Amino acid sequence: GIGRRRFLAGAAGLAGLGVGAGVTAGGAAALRPAPTECTFGSETVDFHGDHQAGVTTTPPAHVTYVGVDLVPGANASVLGGILGIWTDDAARLTQGRPSLSDAEPELARLPARLTVTVGIGERVFTVADKEKLRPTWLRPLPAFGIDKLDPKWGQTDLLVAICSDDPMTVAHTVRVMVNAVRTRIRVRWVQRGFRESRGAQADGATMRNLMGQVDGTVQPDSSLHDSLIWDDGSAQPWFAGGTSLVLRRIAMDLDGWAELDRRGRELTVGRRLSDGAPLSGTSERDDPDFTAIKNGLPVIPASAHVARARRTGDRDRFLRRAYNYDDPPNGAAISDSGLLFAAFQRDIDAQFVPVQRRLAEHDALNEWTVPIGSAVYAILPGVREGEVLGSALHE
Ligand code: HEM
Repeated sequence: GIGRRRFLAGAAGLAGLGVGAGVTAGGAAALRPAPTECTFGSETVDFHGDHQAGVTTTPPAHVTYVGVDLVPGANASVLGGILGIWTDDAARLTQGRPSLSDAEPELARLPARLTVTVGIGERVFTVADKEKLRPTWLRPLPAFGIDKLDPKWGQTDLLVAICSDDPMTVAHTVRVMVNAVRTRIRVRWVQRGFRESRGAQADGATMRNLMGQVDGTVQPDSSLHDSLIWDDGSAQPWFAGGTSLVLRRIAMDLDGWAELDRRGRELTVGRRLSDGAPLSGTSERDDPDFTAIKNGLPVIPASAHVARARRTGDRDRFLRRAYNYDDPPNGAAISDSGLLFAAFQRDIDAQFVPVQRRLAEHDALNEWTVPIGSAVYAILPGVREGEVLGSALHE
């Protein structure tokens, strides 16, 4: 066979003649790429505002969720120290500036739509001695029959969600933010997720999940959008502009799913695989018609995921912002894949729980999906310049 050196020399010769331009895998073009214009590395998302970024902002391609616990003996002042550092770090890093303690400041130069979103778990209100400020919905979800929860992915005291189109930026931001508070916290878990790479498909196109489905089409519409997502401070004035996050790690049985034919897959969800159109319609944005009948049978079965998940009124709705995960498998399995399902809503009890209850009762998709992790957080209101996240909890 042809030796690696001869192969490379040959390829270099060809590239020198201008032959094979654009060749990348193993070719000389990969070793000496022509400089091209940088496209989105410098794009930023505002950090300051009524709301934290990373909820309704367009999801970048990568996310890392970091779940951490406060060290034993922590109190409001420890919490304040952490949130002070995180606010300052996030304000800088999201704008392409290194944090104060940045050991690798060059890695802060390309935010690529970096957002940092901070959430707090129920226990923090006890630790900070601020029980009275806890939103009523911030408590463990009810147990659902479909759950096979692994405590490894369970509730933590604090959450930082870091999103960017550049995984280097995500890794650096995680490192900086965890390192800066390392004596006050223990990292419990890190969950990494991804969507299609930026530029691989049109901006604004709905993502696909690893079962191949177009996922994320139906979202709260604009007229109700704000009231469904953002808290207005009527129950807890300090929380105006905040929201809640339900983060569920849902494993997919991709081997089992592969045994199902295409028709079966489409009936399971109620939408076409090719373009995400409802089985009763012709394009992705068409409203599903759950009354449509063909050959005496419902076009969208009552057991289909979208039929079961469909809102029954104005309240049982929320913003879905999922990412895929695909981790190294254990044992004999060839994959460990699924969805980092994230639902944002103003009130978990009124909005998320009824839908999850219906799906747990019955949903054709349950045959191939299993929730293995679950946690809920209060996503703190946004801050203005000079303010610290969650100040009502630690001042
Ligand atoms: C819709 C997939 C889990 C709630 C959809 C759609 C897909 C999908 C492909 C149709 C397109 C769209 O509107 O986005 C999945 C997968 C899941 C999962 C693969 C797990 C791995 C969940 C969970 C919930 C949920 C846990 C809530 C508890 C919804 C809702 C809709 C939806 C509300 C919109 C229904 C409508 O009004 O048409 N999902 N989903 N999904 N899903 Fe899921």
